[in-house]
Amino acid sequence: MGALDSKTVIVTGAARGLGQAMSRGLIAAGATVVGVDLPGEVELDRTAKALGGKFLPCHANVAEEADCARVVAHALETAGGLHVLINNAGMGMQVINTFNSSDPTPFWKLRPDQWHDMLGNNATSQFLMARACVPHLIAQGWGRIINVTTSLATMLLRGFTPYGPSKAAAEAHSVIMASDLEGTGVTVNVLVPGGAANTRMISDFKRYPDRAALVQPVKMVAPAVWIASNQSDGVTGRRFIAKNWDESLTPAEAALAACAPAGWRTNG
Ligand SMILES: NC(=O)c1ccc[n+]([C@@H]2O[C@H](COP(=O)([O-])OP(=O)(O)OC[C@H]3O[C@@H](n4cnc5c(N)ncnc54)[C@H](O)[C@@H]3O)[C@@H](O)[C@H]2O)c1
Repeated sequence: MGALDSKTVIVTGAARGLGQAMSRGLIAAGATVVGVDLPGEVELDRTAKALGGKFLPCHANVAEEADCARVVAHALETAGGLHVLINNAGMGMQVINTFNSSDPTPFWKLRPDQWHDMLGNNATSQFLMARACVPHLIAQGWGRIINVTTSLATMLLRGFTPYGPSKAAAEAHSVIMASDLEGTGVTVNVLVPGGAANTRMISDFKRYPDRAALVQPVKMVAPAVWIASNQSDGVTGRRFIAKNWDESLTPAEAALAACAPAGWRTNG
């Protein structure tokens, strides 16, 4: 018996990187995964071939309201259910400047359309996908929303407009979503790698020459599986750091050690 037998999980940004690694791990734990990535993204079809019949590919742009509704309809019709949403899709600073970590771009050099695109892909997408899934999750009295944001320090890094603000918006919204959903059986938690991870997004080979020293995408799997499972019932509004998940502990102990309240809970 897998921890996720008979669960259907939507994973956005599933073609590669962290989304692909989580999809593989969720399927190994028994889930059916509706793997979403952009229209025309051929890597999604390659991933579908590699992961087999429990990976149902769905080309959609999750920054668009109509596409989000289509993804949810696809899950309900093709997989026959919907239990978990992993809001993982996102774009990084590499779309603006390959070497942004070693040679940061100041905000006044950005075009407004670059701001809008990134806010759409990284923050609005999480709102739109959650909004599309939540009526079904509330009606069944059980659900999970897992939002991938980023390290709190990255949100404030020099030269990280608009990535930092887009992820800060997603982080804040995760806390609000968790509060709004209290008492419904639907939980909302944040999951982050806990450092630069070995994916396409980390393109600055001058700043990160050693790929083995980065957080490997597979580190996301154990916390993603645990949060998606019944074992995390009642755990909401938390932020999990994948790098800190200690697989030598029981999952419940590892979860406790790898999480803290989501957002910025100070007196400020
Ligand atoms: N790599 C890191 O170091 C790191 C660190 C912290 C957080 N993250 C976050 O983790 C998530 C996954 O990143 P990754 O490193 O795997 O990057 P990646 O570029 O390898 O994968 C991101 C995927 O999201 C897809 N995507 C982007 N916008 C989309 C949209 N509007 N609709 C559908 N699909 C879309 C892309 O096509 C791509 O396949 C992102 O949200 C990212 O911000 C990454």
